[in-house]
Amino acid sequence: MKRISIFASGAGSNAQRIIAHFAGSTEVEIALIVCNKPGAGVLEIASSNNIPTLIIEKEQFFRGNAYVDELGSFHIDFIVLAGFLWKVPSLLIHHYLGRMVNIHPALLPNYGGKGMYGHFVHEAVIANKETESGITIHFVDEEYDHGSTFFQARCQVTETDTPETLASKIHLLEHEYYPKVIESILKSQQIH
Ligand code: GAR
Repeated sequence: MKRISIFASGAGSNAQRIIAHFAGSTEVEIALIVCNKPGAGVLEIASSNNIPTLIIEKEQFFRGNAYVDELGSFHIDFIVLAGFLWKVPSLLIHHYLGRMVNIHPALLPNYGGKGMYGHFVHEAVIANKETESGITIHFVDEEYDHGSTFFQARCQVTETDTPETLASKIHLLEHEYYPKVIESILKSQQIH
């Protein structure tokens, strides 16, 4: 059984889809939800699915052990970032190198980097009159939104789109693909 931790900061709609996808799986267990925001929606999703949660604090994350020991005590094999808005410290990245993925709500390398998250991404895409956007699922390395891309999917951006309507299109793509892509990454890692 592979034990996964989902890191999220907000509503957790991606976390919810991933939890649902693996419910009843004999190979993958969503073993822990890590969150940096007390009161975030994802915590309710965790509790209604009986998944343990870990609320993390800045000091220990950025200047302490980055919660490596705590993740170890939950026997976490793989980390999924799903709307997690803190930069992951190198200590944790190195510990889970090749075993940590992120989803970004745009077609990287465009519209990535510091400050490019959530609605800021969609606002920038609309302001630049792009005709398409999409999602990128990539491994996490030390640079923001930089690690090797595993998967992209695209959607059209029309003249009538607003940041809100674009966000809904992007969420649909994320919900459709993120759980399946995580499953295929985990399968490919089992073979090697
Ligand atoms: C998602 O659209 C995700 O791609 C984005 O935050 C949203 C979280 O939604 N992540 C980033 O912008 C990271 N740079 P959710 O909480 O409903 O899953």
